Amino acid sequence: MYRIAVIPGDGTGPEVVREGLKALEAVAQKVGFSYEIAEYDFGGERYLRTGEALPDSALEELRGFDAIFLGAIGHPEVKPGILEKGILLRLRFELDLYINLRPVKLYPGVYTPIRDKGPEDIDFVVVRENTEGLYTGTGGFLRKGTSDEVAIQTSVNTRKGVERCVRFAYEFTRRRGKRKKLTLCGKTNVLTYAFDLWERVFQEVGREYPDVGQDYAHVDAITMWMVKNPEYFDVIVTDNMFGDIITDLGAMIQGGMGIAAGGNLNPQKYIGMFEPIGGSAPKYAGKGMINPLAAISAVQMMLDFLGEEEGARVLEDAVARTAGKLESLAAGRMGYTTSEVGDLVVQAVEGG
Ligand code: IPM
Ligand code: MN
Repeated sequence: MYRIAVIPGDGTGPEVVREGLKALEAVAQKVGFSYEIAEYDFGGERYLRTGEALPDSALEELRGFDAIFLGAIGHPEVKPGILEKGILLRLRFELDLYINLRPVKLYPGVYTPIRDKGPEDIDFVVVRENTEGLYTGTGGFLRKGTSDEVAIQTSVNTRKGVERCVRFAYEFTRRRGKRKKLTLCGKTNVLTYAFDLWERVFQEVGREYPDVGQDYAHVDAITMWMVKNPEYFDVIVTDNMFGDIITDLGAMIQGGMGIAAGGNLNPQKYIGMFEPIGGSAPKYAGKGMINPLAAISAVQMMLDFLGEEEGARVLEDAVARTAGKLESLAAGRMGYTTSEVGDLVVQAVEGG
């Protein structure tokens, strides 16, 4: 019996989460596992009502779950940063979800803006460090608002933090067993402290994985090759900020935000938080226009993490077949409503 916390959140979050849960139920019936769900109303509405983003008591409760399924966080009436830092980043940090895993995979029949590349070329995974780097909020202002203002934002890279991320990436590359190549994405020519540490750790840990090929590329070159030669990549490991940036590019080449999902994991503590990475898209909220496949793919990643490999496989297959049937993966241009896409996935699960 899995215990799953559900945070539908803001904007289109609730409607895509609804379809994700529909798919989860279909897979549970199909392959036979059971779960219970507890729903939490964290997000912009609650913040505007109560002034509280994420109560401490809730954080303690959430620690007791096997997984968290998150819709989206972000509300047009709340100043940028408050909900992101107060809910999403706080959950990542406090639950120590130190890996952000983001597969970039193009399914057959899905449009990619890269001409002449197909599903055989676009299939790699980004392992993004998720608790350090520029995201720790280390820094501050001096003489704020004056003409002598100074703003400092520091990238924090700890030996332990880098090592556990890099180690996970090697393990993951080995287990994935595709081309067994791990690319470190950095900027060793400019960020000569942070990525010096990353590079040393990458090489040291790599000695324990002689079967995994080591590769290095600067982040700017990576963005170029992701477009020019995406087939070059198997697994990419990188820091928090670079990982944030390159995974939006990754989402675009796999067909867009309508399909891109991610998992925030702590493999040791056996807890993970799974989310579509597209955000709350308030302009589409409540219209049945948003694509739920990203949220359903997040459920697939959750099943994989929970050890329900058969269920994950069935669901991925259903998502891939459904994606190929849509006119477009973009909101409002799918040829179906949000819940109809969810129904197509459920039918594919039941039939497949
Ligand atoms: C993501 C998002 C978040 C991030 C924002 C919403 C804080 O862009 O999950 O990639 O920067 O990590
Ligand atoms: Mn992002």
